[in-house]
Amino acid sequence: MNGPHSCLLAPSILAGDHADLRSSLGQIEASGLSWVHLDIMDGHFVPNLTFGPQTVAALRPGSALFFDVHLMLDNPQHYIEPFAEAGADQITIHVEPDYPVAETLADIRARNCRCGVVLNPDTPAEAARPFLDEVDIVLLMTVQPGFGGQSFRHDVLPKIEQLARWRKEDNLNYRLEVDGGVDLETAPLCTSRGVDTLVAGTAFFKAADRTEFIRKTTGSVK
Ligand code: DX5
Ligand code: ZN
Repeated sequence: MNGPHSCLLAPSILAGDHADLRSSLGQIEASGLSWVHLDIMDGHFVPNLTFGPQTVAALRPGSALFFDVHLMLDNPQHYIEPFAEAGADQITIHVEPDYPVAETLADIRARNCRCGVVLNPDTPAEAARPFLDEVDIVLLMTVQPGFGGQSFRHDVLPKIEQLARWRKEDNLNYRLEVDGGVDLETAPLCTSRGVDTLVAGTAFFKAADRTEFIRKTTGSVK
């Protein structure tokens, strides 16, 4: 099921060189891609820690990439302003923790950032439904969040189909993104069901031929 957007790849910098994230950004730019995925973890919502707004702000100058900031936080509403000011172009927030999701999406939009909701693998599609007409993107986790290099959860595929169906039936325009275990084998399983935004960490940074990886996963050369 094709959607309204052309397919793109957003490498996750979590799989980059943490001693030199700028050079990892440079590799993404050199491959001709236009998005980078930035994973923010708090050690509570997920059992891992990554980096904060200061690192995003340090990477912003000199990079024309679209900063797709994925907040894996128990209380994302408290961090929208710092990440927006750090230069995020888009901020996605999970629906699972107990906080005001709709108000937080409105706060993101009020700061001229694109906004989106994220669902963990075991969270039903219905949890996204109240927000579908006010988001730019829906991110479906295809691994339990917290680490790169995990195996793709095939049980999420029906949920992709459901979100693609609602988008078509309700004439909505959100991008449909997947994140976790995306590689040359699993990417087509997603794009053939309506996904147009692929996050890949390990598979992108380990790819022997990145141009070929981009072409095979997105069906285009950029
Ligand atoms: C996991 C993160 C993902 C992860 C993807 O919680 O949200 O973005 O970095 O990495 P790979 O592609 O290696 O599964
Ligand atoms: Zn992510």
